[in-house]
Amino acid sequence: MIIAKSRHEIQLMREAGQVVASCHEALRSFIREGVTTMQIDRFVEDFLTKHGMIPAQKGYKGYPYAACTSVNDVVCHGFPSDYRLRSGDIITVDMVALHKGLHADSAWSYGIGELSETASRLMQVTEQSLYIGIEQAVLDNHISDIGHAIQTFVEGQGFSVVRDFIGHGIGRQMHESPEVLHFGPPHKGPKIKKGMAFTIEPMVNTGSYECTVDDDGWTARTADGGLSIQYEHTLVVTENGPDILTKLA
Ligand code: MF3
Ligand code: CO
Repeated sequence: MIIAKSRHEIQLMREAGQVVASCHEALRSFIREGVTTMQIDRFVEDFLTKHGMIPAQKGYKGYPYAACTSVNDVVCHGFPSDYRLRSGDIITVDMVALHKGLHADSAWSYGIGELSETASRLMQVTEQSLYIGIEQAVLDNHISDIGHAIQTFVEGQGFSVVRDFIGHGIGRQMHESPEVLHFGPPHKGPKIKKGMAFTIEPMVNTGSYECTVDDDGWTARTADGGLSIQYEHTLVVTENGPDILTKLA
């Protein structure tokens, strides 16, 4: 069942989303060569907590940290560690804030120092694919129109879209209906209606879309060792189109 959000719920999700967006903005100057991914996790946990939010990923299904820090070949759910970022690395930081019972979820990516041509193009293409997907989040489109637009664009750029992890409805639960695939045919699945809130969060690989998961049960990597990047927003659908809750107002 897809739960339409009330005005009050949307307001709370927006407040949570603004804190998440400010945290990502602050990370832009915090993240640089020599910083460890554990320091990034601390930064995220402190930032969310200081702004009155619960870092909702921590403890979710046993995930141990406030942030997912996914470096280079890590697709998503990378564990923070004592790894020090180096020039040329690319990292996706994913976080969820829980505020008065409502969630906001956003992942953003950061490049360290001098990036390869491929790495910087991967970041640009993935961010653009997110916005191309968001453009499809309009009344009476089908949910699968989002993924179709993302896949068409990404594959046209010579990259691939991960199949194993998808976007999701969000609200009182971190993960609700509907499922939001980032690939597939158009005009399938539920129609997009006013008040629906969901994430769009394409993970894009330079090589094959296939992934493996480490023995820790979380860290997902590209099967072929290629690079992977993710961008994610939480949005709500209005009569006037998608309203991105995790973008700074
Ligand atoms: N933020 C993630 C998402 O985009 C959820 C990560 S799983 C967790 O759906 F366990 F880390 F929370
Ligand atoms: Co997320």
